[in-house]
Amino acid sequence: MIDGPLLAIETSCDETAAAIVDGRRVRSSIIASQAALHAPYGGVVPEVAARHHLGTINRVIDAALAAGGVGLDDLQAIAVTQRPGLIGALLVGVSTAKALACVRRLPLISVDHLLGHVCASWLEPVALDPPFVCLIASGGHTRLDLVHDLAAPETLGQTIDDAAGEAIDKGARLLGLGYPGGPALEQLARSGDRTAHRFPIALGGKRVRDFSFAGVKTSLLYVIRDEGPLSARRRADLAASYQEAIVGPLAARLLDAAREHRVPAVALGGGVAANGRLRELVTEGAARQGLRVAMPEIALCTDNAAMIGAAAQFTAVVPWPDYLRVDAIPTAPPGGIAA
Ligand code: KG4
Ligand code: ZN
Repeated sequence: MIDGPLLAIETSCDETAAAIVDGRRVRSSIIASQAALHAPYGGVVPEVAARHHLGTINRVIDAALAAGGVGLDDLQAIAVTQRPGLIGALLVGVSTAKALACVRRLPLISVDHLLGHVCASWLEPVALDPPFVCLIASGGHTRLDLVHDLAAPETLGQTIDDAAGEAIDKGARLLGLGYPGGPALEQLARSGDRTAHRFPIALGGKRVRDFSFAGVKTSLLYVIRDEGPLSARRRADLAASYQEAIVGPLAARLLDAAREHRVPAVALGGGVAANGRLRELVTEGAARQGLRVAMPEIALCTDNAAMIGAAAQFTAVVPWPDYLRVDAIPTAPPGGIAA
């Protein structure tokens, strides 16, 4: 555990973020989203993301220091997202962190982005301690972790194809909604009937806790193709049914895993955790099972640097000058990356 404030930096995808974290306390968390920049392309363009991070990162760090009421002299360490993510985007954060740490002779902590999502609930005011089961569902990842030790969560299952957020975004696009589609799909789904259409619910994978969303997405594509122009009513019904086919299995497997592993709490992380229907299903199910539900505020569920500062407390510190060899690592190949 780092004693005192640290600066955390996150640039793995399309948010340029910096935060000052002191133990469990978030002193500041600044997030500059590039979502509007990528919207015309219907997804994140890696090269555009990297260039934009480069132009924004220094201002975001200055803002985090100012809002956190600390100067560079007060920092005890620099934490940065090292993996996984878009390589060009990650490199901006890693290079900036190394340069800052180097001139100040501060230790560096290179953090796993997904551990960041898991550790977001450890921060105040949620302040959740293990054991718990955590669902991370975002545009890039869908993973279920059993957490007995924040330094080493055990992955129970993950998606075998699309991430939940990716399936939501692609479905939203098929329904004529903009990017990112999550909030718009949720809005449209509110006026629809979630039982109107039965989408296939895939169990998928060798492990029962794995997820699969490619079939649901293809199924929506075929319905839209076969039914021709949709009435407003049918569009809302399909949105509600599609959302249910994605968030239903997420909630069910999270709650099942908590029962099976006899943990007293469940946690949500990732952008899809902003979904009201997912929150409702998890809250209702958890109440029936007598579980505590840890849902960090939405700004801590979507990509942010405060969660990287939290994960840094459970990650090995690399001293000067060893971290000059630390490099950004994009998506891990199957079987992991050799040390
Ligand atoms: O964690 P995040 O901000 O970025 C990464 O992908 O790492 O997650 C973004 C994803 C997008 O797919 C977006 O559509 C989804 O989270 N999302 C939602 C909602 N808000 C954001 N999905 C469903 N309902 C929402 N309200
Ligand atoms: Zn993320």
